[in-house]
Amino acid sequence: MTHESTLTPTTPDPVGVPAFDVNLHVDEILTNPYPTYAELREAGPVVWLRHYGYYALPRYTEVAETLADWETFTSGEGVGFNDMFNSIRETSLMNEGDFHDQIRQVEGCPIKKGPLEELKPRLAAFTDDLIAELRSKGEGATLDGVADIAMRMPIDVVTDLVGIAEAGRAQFFEWGKAGFDSIGPLDAPRTMPALQTMAGYMQYAEEDFPANIRDGGWADQLFKNGAEAGWDEALCRGVMNDYVYPSIDSTISAIGIGLLLFAQHPDQWDLLRGDRRLLQSAIPEIVRLASPLQFFTRVATRDADIAGTRIPEGSRLIVMYGSANRDERQFPDPDGFDITRNPAQHLGWGRGKHSCLGKPLARLEMITLFNALADHVERFEAGAYRYEPNNIIRSLGELELSIRWAD
Ligand code: HEM
Repeated sequence: MTHESTLTPTTPDPVGVPAFDVNLHVDEILTNPYPTYAELREAGPVVWLRHYGYYALPRYTEVAETLADWETFTSGEGVGFNDMFNSIRETSLMNEGDFHDQIRQVEGCPIKKGPLEELKPRLAAFTDDLIAELRSKGEGATLDGVADIAMRMPIDVVTDLVGIAEAGRAQFFEWGKAGFDSIGPLDAPRTMPALQTMAGYMQYAEEDFPANIRDGGWADQLFKNGAEAGWDEALCRGVMNDYVYPSIDSTISAIGIGLLLFAQHPDQWDLLRGDRRLLQSAIPEIVRLASPLQFFTRVATRDADIAGTRIPEGSRLIVMYGSANRDERQFPDPDGFDITRNPAQHLGWGRGKHSCLGKPLARLEMITLFNALADHVERFEAGAYRYEPNNIIRSLGELELSIRWAD
């Protein structure tokens, strides 16, 4: 591979492991990573990326097994690509053991089945209003599938559910994006500015939480449940990150790419319109193909073996959800969009102890939206679109879309 590294590797290549100079954090790979992933998968189950001095796991089986073995491959040393991000401790994402389980329990309260049942009518009403608004633009009008559709429910509803003041809500999307960019390596152009944006967010949080949060919102519950668990305000404020970082952009990515996929595959849209039970497999198929979160890292807590490759204690490994979800060894026709496929074992939500806490919410948002669209939309037609580079999240920045209404 010919992508130039700007870092001099400090560690020699491990013997017998295919080594590459590829930098995954350049725009052309962030926006179109799949040809690179295919080369890495072809090279072996474990590869060495000199640019980072990390091992990488591009195939399905090794990613799934590594995620499941949290004691050998820990998130507790950080899941990112730089020490500043990896030193954050107040998050379920980067803790293990009892404290991880406790954080998940405290922050997970509003995202459980019961509260989500109560949310259903609100999401349904929001979607009806959104569809009325889209129709009011006129038959054949060109919309932006990202700004006009994909962003709407996560930004309008979810930020309100979290319950922070209006000034903060307006910045939620930018914070989410910067949150994911701040996970990248320091030599990637977006990482340092993103770390600075997140420092601004922390300052905002310090001044505003818990003073200016809405009674009964997620943030309010988190501060109350946290206090009951013996946490101080600083810890509650830190754990609030778990609502800010991952709750918006990930879902926007999946919805936006879902719209594009249905526009590109009208046969799949017809299938869904004809049988809504297919939403149960269509949503995971979208998440598999979109893989909004492309990769994180883990650190080996002891000498380990992955598919016959020795991984020394202390090594950092890139777990490549996006590549694993296109592994031809696991998924026949892996780049194909087939909503009748059962991709339940895909890794788009992660696997094991750190699998996505917000999955039930994101799934409910997507099911509500695509179900209502299937009631009213005969065809999506896509024009120009572009992916927005981000150090972790792969999502569309713009998607020209016109809608042919069914009724
Ligand atoms: C389509 C939307 C989403 C996708 C694809 C997604 C994907 C993921 C993935 C891959 C992980 C695993 C991280 C790891 O292996 O270390 C994860 C963890 C997590 N997600 Fe999501 N996510 C989505 C939506 C959400 C939402 C809406 C929320 C919050 C309301 C959320 C909150 C979290 C949290 C807190 C974790 C960390 C869990 C832990 O470490 O125990 N996610 N997500």
